[in-house]
Amino acid sequence: MLDKFLVSMHNARMSHAQRAQTSNDVCFVRAYAKINLTLDVLGRRADGYHELATVMQTVDLYDTICLTATGDRRVELVCTKPELSNEDNLAARAAHLVRERLALRQGVLLELHKHIPVAAGLGGGSSDAAAVLLALQQWWQLQLSPSDLLDMAAALGSDVPFFLTGGLALCVGRGERVTALAPCWPRSMRWLLLLKPAIGVSTAVVFRNLSASDFTDGTHSRAVSTALNAGQTPRLEDLHNCFERSVLEYYPEVAHARADLLRAGAPFVRLSGTGPTLFASFAELACAQRVQEQLQMQGYEVYLSRAIHPDVGNVCVC
Ligand code: C5P
Repeated sequence: MLDKFLVSMHNARMSHAQRAQTSNDVCFVRAYAKINLTLDVLGRRADGYHELATVMQTVDLYDTICLTATGDRRVELVCTKPELSNEDNLAARAAHLVRERLALRQGVLLELHKHIPVAAGLGGGSSDAAAVLLALQQWWQLQLSPSDLLDMAAALGSDVPFFLTGGLALCVGRGERVTALAPCWPRSMRWLLLLKPAIGVSTAVVFRNLSASDFTDGTHSRAVSTALNAGQTPRLEDLHNCFERSVLEYYPEVAHARADLLRAGAPFVRLSGTGPTLFASFAELACAQRVQEQLQMQGYEVYLSRAIHPDVGNVCVC
């Protein structure tokens, strides 16, 4: 079946993030990871969630999903990480949701080649779910409006709407209200190192560990959005993540990794999302590589990456 692989003409007209490559009964899609440049938590809400303001950027670390039409009317998911090969996987839930919403019975096999570290603060599960929504919309030529897609994405998780477009965006509310920012990335941050400490963290637990003194008023995210939209490099003190204090305190592995990154030459280090992944940025590839090699020798899992705008496969560097 894969030998028959074609890139459809329909694909060429797609404007959204994860361009799917389709043939009649097989469809491939990429799901990019993200980092949070800022993460302001404004306070707790009555519905149990937290009010957020965050600036997110997709990076070129991605999972690959192959969707195959099947005759048995089921949604089946097989993942390169066996512990994720189940019906609870957000990618499978996205396929179920589309079928329920449109009363479809077509079976689909999802093969998920996982590269993005799991429970890492890089949005891998959310990105997979958004990629499945977009792939099915295109592949099955579904009559889903942008607002239908947004509704479904928000029902799957707070970060999922961001991944419908990816790139650089300010996200507020639960995280589901997304405003795209100019696809411009500071030159001084051309190369990104993502260091994943050897632990996973539960988003819900990290939210629970927050104290009121960690809350901010959204100033950092607004300042960074304004700077980036104006083609300026944001101030380091605005690259603030409200979770950093508690994550460094509750997870010593993260505090050690942060110290090791700084010692190896990272100019600054920040937490992505609710962690435990840390990121650092570099103007020069050679510097980023040197720091990566040093940390890999110390046994760390480190990815050398860059900001990516999936629409155009690139961002302009300011
Ligand atoms: O929306 P999502 O399912 O990804 O959220 C996972 C958990 O993170 C929620 O159950 C909640 O505990 C916490 N969360 C929150 N406020 C947000 C987003 C997530 O408290 N804005």
